[in-house]
Amino acid sequence: MLAQINGISLAFTDQGIGLPLVFLHAFPLTRSMWSEQEHALTSQFRVITIDLRGHGESDAPLWRYSLDQAADDVCGLLDHLSIRHAIIVGLSMGGYIAFAFYRKYADRVKGLIFADTRAQADTDEGKRARFEMAQVAYKQGPGAIADIMLQKLLSPTTIRTRPELVQRVRTMIEGNQVSGIAGDLMAMAERPDSLPLLQQIICPTQIIVGELDVPTPPSDAQLMADRIHNARLAVIPEAGHLSNLEQPELFNEAIRSFGLTLVR
Ligand code: MLT
Repeated sequence: MLAQINGISLAFTDQGIGLPLVFLHAFPLTRSMWSEQEHALTSQFRVITIDLRGHGESDAPLWRYSLDQAADDVCGLLDHLSIRHAIIVGLSMGGYIAFAFYRKYADRVKGLIFADTRAQADTDEGKRARFEMAQVAYKQGPGAIADIMLQKLLSPTTIRTRPELVQRVRTMIEGNQVSGIAGDLMAMAERPDSLPLLQQIICPTQIIVGELDVPTPPSDAQLMADRIHNARLAVIPEAGHLSNLEQPELFNEAIRSFGLTLVR
C-alpha cells in the first residue's frame, strides 16, 4: 500500500489485528526483510512494515535526509492509520530511528524493541567511512554497496551456506536508489549520541542481538540493557547483524513473548 506522508509517497504493509508492531528496517534494505516476521506474527499482532523514505517502493527524493525526518514519516503513517500507540521495532538503522522516534513521540510508544543496533553516535572515523561509502554509491551504484555491506550484514556461515539468503539481501540493496543510500549515510553520520537518552526511556524495552553481530556487537546491546530501566536482552545464537533473517524463529519468539506481555 502507498500513503502520502510529509510530501512523499511511503510504501507499507499492514496486516493482522491486535497490538500494532511497527517494523523499521536496516540500511540499505527494505521492508521485505521482515517477511518472516509478518508471516509469524500477524496471527497475534497488527504488523506494519514500512519502506523508509529513500528505500524500496517509497520515494527517494534527491534531497537531505535525517533520522528525525524518518521518525516524522513513521508518526505520519501512524496518524494515517489512526494508530495511537504501537510497539516500535527497529533493527540497526531502524533502531537509530526508533531512538529518534522516542525522543519526539514517546507518548505514541507502547514498547521499544532495539535489534542489532547501538546508542552511540558515529566516531569521526565512522563518519568518514559514511562519506566514502556515499562516494562509492554515487560513482559505482547500489551493486558496489551490496558488495561492501553483505559482509557486514550476514555471518560468515550464512554467506557460505545460504546463497539464496545472500541473493535476497543483495536484491534488496540493489533495488534501492543512490539518492536514498547516500541520504541515509549522511543522516546516520549526523545522528546524535543516544546514550543520554537510555536512562530516560520509561517504556518496556526488549533488546535483541545476534551473537556474531560485528557492526553492532553484543557489547553494544549489553550497554543498552544495562542503562535502560528493566530492559530485557535476548542474544540470538548463530546469527550476525541481520538476526531476524538468519534465525527467524528465535527472533520471532523474542518479539512474540515481549509483545504478549504488553497486550492487555
Ligand atoms: C544497518 O544495518 O542499518 C547499518 O549497518 C547501520 C550502520 O551502518 O550504522
